[in-house]
Amino acid sequence: MKVTRELFNEVMVPNYNPAAMIPVRGKGSRIWDQDNIEYVDFAGGIAVNALGHCHPELVSALKEQGEKLWHLSNVFTNEPAIRLAKKLTDLTFADRVYFANSGAEANEAALKLARRWALDHHGEEKNQIISFKQGFHGRTFFTVTVGGQPAYSDGFGPKPGAVEHAVYNDLASLEALMSDKTCAVMMEPLQGEGGIISPTPEFVKGVRELCDKHNALLIFDEVQSGVGRTGDLYAYMGLNVTPDILTTAKSLGGGFPIGAMLTTKDIAESLKPGTHGSTYGGNPLACAVAERVLDVINTPEVLEGVKHKEQLFRDGLNAINEKYQVFAEIRGKGLLLGAALNEKYQGRARDFLVASVGEHLMCLVAGANVVRFAPSLVIPDEDIKEGLARFERAVAKVVNG
Ligand SMILES: Cc1ncc(COP(=O)(O)O)c(C=O)c1O
Repeated sequence: MKVTRELFNEVMVPNYNPAAMIPVRGKGSRIWDQDNIEYVDFAGGIAVNALGHCHPELVSALKEQGEKLWHLSNVFTNEPAIRLAKKLTDLTFADRVYFANSGAEANEAALKLARRWALDHHGEEKNQIISFKQGFHGRTFFTVTVGGQPAYSDGFGPKPGAVEHAVYNDLASLEALMSDKTCAVMMEPLQGEGGIISPTPEFVKGVRELCDKHNALLIFDEVQSGVGRTGDLYAYMGLNVTPDILTTAKSLGGGFPIGAMLTTKDIAESLKPGTHGSTYGGNPLACAVAERVLDVINTPEVLEGVKHKEQLFRDGLNAINEKYQVFAEIRGKGLLLGAALNEKYQGRARDFLVASVGEHLMCLVAGANVVRFAPSLVIPDEDIKEGLARFERAVAKVVNG
């Protein structure tokens, strides 16, 4: 069968509009397409391929587990799932883990847990969930409603209720919505899809204080910011604010689908047997790979390396900006960076992405005004240099029309 981009349109639901080229092979931070053209990968599959493509440790973890046991269902448990949960609890504030297959499902579990916890401890009046405008938490109907982008949640009929949105980095707007009816506040400790927005330290601290004041749970969605992406194992560790529930996915599997919700022993009690579940959650293949991902990433070399590589990106992007004057600022943390376009290029982030593909570079956007970079955490310095040279050519193309 000849596989072409045209065939995609004939057989796929049209909710995606992928690039014209079809990647067939990857190694580290390089990808090759059907014509053997090589690309530098600054996207990492939207902040997923935290160890690049086909990292030898992950390939061997998958092969080893693939020859032992693929799937069981949650009628039985399995060794990789228990080992991974033990590692996650040892490394974070959490005592208990629930496994899912994606970020949205981890968030769905977090939101359902928060509602159950509030019902158990405070009664059914305490059901309000507050999140933030521009936030993104996934595409299930509950998570897309909690996310703060109506463009994604409108048009599907009645939404789940008791969900409200405050303004990120504006404590007063949150305070105005909060009361003893608030059961949880959900936030990204670094907004990703919404434009790479870091919270101010005072804001995060204030959110924690308001949650404590109103007996509400604080849920950190670390689906994009977690597992070393910001240079800390989880972003909350660099903010000195501890959530009650944390969700993690994307980098956790390094490309193998897995999500997890982490919480404390007491809060976890509300998900009693039968209250929630998933056929594939805790799948041995996914957990075996994720365990290896954690082992490789949670080392001083990799986490310090993220900070060093962030600086290479910042220096390179600033140098490009000095020449072409396209960015208002470079923002984000670690290897979750955004080049925010200045007034002159408002709304044109996608043009930079398309020009980059033309120069054989994969990058991302975060909304209409930000070009986003979320490469492998172990991307070689030479690949950063080469990718930035390609990005400079793409910028020149956009600037020169
Ligand atoms: C912060 C955040 N939460 C949740 C999700 C949804 O994750 P998934 O696509 O794995 O369901 C994303 C995906 O971009 C995300 O960035």
